[in-house]
Amino acid sequence: MTKANQPIAVLDSGIGGISVLKELVKLMPNEKFIYFGDFDNAPYGTKTMQEVREITIKNTRMLMEMGVKALVVACNTATGAAVRALREMYPDFPLVGIEPAVKPAVTEKADPTVLILATPLTLKQEKFEALLSRVATDNAEIICLPCPGLMEIIDEGHVSGEEIDSYLQNLFKDIPKDKIDSVVLGCTHYPHAKEAIVKALGGNVKVYDGGLGTAKEAKRRIELLMLQAPEEQQGSVTFLNCDGHEEKIRIAERFLYDA
Ligand code: DGL
Repeated sequence: MTKANQPIAVLDSGIGGISVLKELVKLMPNEKFIYFGDFDNAPYGTKTMQEVREITIKNTRMLMEMGVKALVVACNTATGAAVRALREMYPDFPLVGIEPAVKPAVTEKADPTVLILATPLTLKQEKFEALLSRVATDNAEIICLPCPGLMEIIDEGHVSGEEIDSYLQNLFKDIPKDKIDSVVLGCTHYPHAKEAIVKALGGNVKVYDGGLGTAKEAKRRIELLMLQAPEEQQGSVTFLNCDGHEEKIRIAERFLYDA
């Protein structure tokens, strides 16, 4: 087996990263993907930065030992906590993270009001503050809203219905919904619940998430190193960490393969 035949690993705390994997599979249908949802340590977003960094380094080591040719950290929280350390550890390895898609949201019109939804830890991180100061414009009004507990609801497959609707209603109770032009889904779980989020915000907001951009960047990095799978290779997705998590894997497959 040559390096080009080796799999690409995709990592998240749960099944959020499936929103990125979906884009990866569309862009690179001949690749073999290994998806690792870290169900035993989830959620990441309410842990400390140090905890998430240590967990992510440990999971990356485990995936590296499996001989993957690239790694996509399909988790905003883990990217913020660990990507810099991982790049230092594996300087020549194609390693792609994700960050909230704030830039396109703030530049879409002259004076937008942008709501950023993410985990508590993502919004506290230096990396996020640096992103905001890099891309925020004087005319954009930005509201950052941590969503503790939302990942757990989505990880159980409740992307529509009573449970998520009442969570979101409560989450947005003090948000000036009529003023919001766009919402940034700064956690890879949230795109799975996009319809419920848009509905709870009044139905008329533009949605931004970093999944497609991350998948494009992964493809670009893999091609740059000439590591793309040969055209005759049959693409596949393998889930790791299945034992005891059969229900999660079933939900992950539903998110991945349902339209
Ligand atoms: N899906 C993750 C993210 O993109 C984190 C969810 C969590 O574990 O809290 O931030």
